[in-house]
Amino acid sequence: MTPAGLLLEEEIRRDGPIPFRRFMEVALYHPEHGYYRKPHDPFGTQGDFYTAEQIQPVFGILMAARIRQLYRRMGEPPEFVVVELGAGRREMAEAFSEWPYIPVDLDSGDLPRKISGVVFSNEFFDAMPVDVAIYRDGAFHAQRVAFAAGRFVWETGPAVSAELDEYLRRYFLPPEEGRWYEANLHALQWIERIARALHSGYAFTIDYGYTRTESVRFPAGTLMGYRRHTARGDVLEDPGARDITAHVNFSALEELGDACGLRTERFETLAQTLLAAGEPDQFAAALTSADDPRRRMQLKTLLFGMGESFRVLIQRAGGPRSAFGEATAP
Ligand SMILES: C[S@@+](CC[C@H](N)C(=O)[O-])C[C@H]1O[C@@H](n2cnc3c(N)ncnc32)[C@H](O)[C@@H]1O
Repeated sequence: MTPAGLLLEEEIRRDGPIPFRRFMEVALYHPEHGYYRKPHDPFGTQGDFYTAEQIQPVFGILMAARIRQLYRRMGEPPEFVVVELGAGRREMAEAFSEWPYIPVDLDSGDLPRKISGVVFSNEFFDAMPVDVAIYRDGAFHAQRVAFAAGRFVWETGPAVSAELDEYLRRYFLPPEEGRWYEANLHALQWIERIARALHSGYAFTIDYGYTRTESVRFPAGTLMGYRRHTARGDVLEDPGARDITAHVNFSALEELGDACGLRTERFETLAQTLLAAGEPDQFAAALTSADDPRRRMQLKTLLFGMGESFRVLIQRAGGPRSAFGEATAP
């Protein structure tokens, strides 16, 4: 049993089955034994997963090109900064070095109180602890974690809280018997925090995810565990030793954002963002170097490997809906 597993087992023996959100919180963020807190590097070849940010320099060049477009649209204000939420290994630091770059991660860096610029994140929201529910006999029930016969198991608990019920009814299609749902209440808090801090500029969010209507594709939910580049469905195994993610409900981010003054400018696939950033000459700039073949391969991985599964949401702080007429799709 992993050290985080021992702690969770003890907690369950003492208090009874726990909400999945608590399980994920300890598994990923326990100060000593959590997956993201242990002295190991989860990223890269020796780790458990790659993110788009590790595809440098091409990802950095194209994201900086996209941010430059936003910077120009804002009239190049002198106070412009790029804040990165969940900055991890700070892979974007070099690419964003033409502006003051403020990385925020656990125990390092705080969200500034007043921002003019871009609040960027890549795979930040999908790493937040989520609640899990199942719809049964006409009500949402909490899916909790129990401990039996030496392992962690799912157990259906009582009806969910009013807050969770409201989230699930608001951001999903009308519920269907037997379906699993995830609710990311932390994401809502972060959207509110971003909206409060961002006085002018854009929230630029990249992640796996779905909209309300697309959520029908996931009748068993979207939880995934990653270890050594293999995705595993059983997220209750080896807490602390593998990453756990839940796809992001972009309808929730958009609609709460809208209510807080963050207007959706674009919602699109990562491939669409890369293509928009690459025009008219950035692909040439991204690809021109002594290691051309490597860079071409990076662009291919980004466009075809990750481009369709990742979504990009760009929200603008303040003001009326944009007149740019850019697509809100898909
Ligand atoms: C999947 S990693 C992504 C890292 C990086 N953005 C990338 O794409 O390679 C998620 C990151 O979010 C950070 N994180 C999670 N919860 C956070 C919080 N509440 N505040 C700040 N950072 C957080 C984690 O520590 C981790 O570095």
